[in-house]
Amino acid sequence: MSGPNPKPIPVPLSSAERQRLLEAARAALAQAYAPYSKFHVGAALLSEAGKFYTGCNVENASYGLTICAERAAICAAVSAEGGGMRIRALAVLNGNDAPCSPCGACRQVIFEFGAQAPVLYQGRDGVEESIAAALLPEGFTL
Ligand code: THU
Repeated sequence: MSGPNPKPIPVPLSSAERQRLLEAARAALAQAYAPYSKFHVGAALLSEAGKFYTGCNVENASYGLTICAERAAICAAVSAEGGGMRIRALAVLNGNDAPCSPCGACRQVIFEFGAQAPVLYQGRDGVEESIAAALLPEGFTL
């Protein structure tokens, strides 16, 4: 029927999962190290294994070395579960309630571990939800 590596069908998030992800992302932003931008970001990730992980942005005096909250959460998840970790869903919130979807670098890293995962982020009028592959069309694969 289908060829190799069929595209997984996205499973909708339950409202409990959604709420827990958003609460965890909100809590994580309190840990942010953002003395340069003062823009505090928190991310929460639910893995396919059913575990929650969080990350915050970690800035550096050498600005380009900054690590975004989304990538910090993904690194925490892979560190705990190993390279087979798959993202079920990811949420990102900031301390300013400013519209803020993941940056291009983070989109590529999210795509690596969960191209079909729902991503929740602060939009203009509240939280928005998009599938990772829709945020990064033609994401890079090897
Ligand atoms: N930042 C994130 O952590 N995630 C995003 O989705 C957007 C930007 C961080 C990077 C930097 O520390 C600060 O926000 C301002 O760009």
